[in-house]
Amino acid sequence: MEIEEFKLKDGRIVNIKRLTMDDYDADNNYEYVHDWLNKVNKFLALEFEKEDLERDRTNFRFLMSKEGLIMIGGVYNGKIIATANLELNQNNKKLGHLGKWGIAIHHLFQNQGLGTRLLQIIEECAKKKGVKKLETEYFLGNVRAEKLYVEKLKYQIEGRRRFGGKLKNGTYTDRILIGKIIDDSMKEK
Ligand SMILES: CC(C)(COP(=O)(O)OP(=O)(O)OC[C@H]1O[C@@H](n2cnc3c(N)ncnc32)[C@H](O)[C@@H]1OP(=O)(O)O)[C@@H](O)C(=O)NCCC(=O)NCCS
Repeated sequence: MEIEEFKLKDGRIVNIKRLTMDDYDADNNYEYVHDWLNKVNKFLALEFEKEDLERDRTNFRFLMSKEGLIMIGGVYNGKIIATANLELNQNNKKLGHLGKWGIAIHHLFQNQGLGTRLLQIIEECAKKKGVKKLETEYFLGNVRAEKLYVEKLKYQIEGRRRFGGKLKNGTYTDRILIGKIIDDSMKEK
């Protein structure tokens, strides 16, 4: 994809581009992202604790090396401040029509329209790759995520995993499974 200049609601300009491991290796960006992910992790499945940095980096390198992984990022002043990833199953005949995504935005860049734009781009990328349905899940209680995915982007709630996640305060919450058919020929089925 071309680099896109995206104007946030407050006027700041963020460059949206496809990210490679080189982008994370440059200018301590992996450490930077790991640090802000720890600050926005309330409803994320991973903690991103400082002491786990090297373990997480190894796991992340493995994720980035996967054939069907597309990572889109928002970059501001050379720093990665938002990421949205799409996982494809292109070599799987039974699951190849599905794509799964995840997203996280730096706390100082949330609620600025960036999540909306990144997920629109994820949808465009998925369509180009022949994906027919997008899926993901969020922790019950993640109001902003729910508003964005279900109300604004029209994902449908498809299921609920009871006690699917544990919050930092020790309480359990459910994971809400959502999906969106993006192939017009499947929409009536
Ligand atoms: C969830 C997340 C990806 C959304 O991205 P974002 O850039 O903040 O979202 P946007 O600004 O594009 O849109 C958010 C929408 O929610 C609305 N919103 C924000 N806070 C809200 C609240 N407390 N209650 C209801 N709606 C709310 C906004 O008004 C906006 O809608 P609008 O554009 O129609 O006004 C981002 O906030 C994030 O990374 N959060 C922390 C990590 C996380 O939870 N990731 C998702 C895991 S599934």
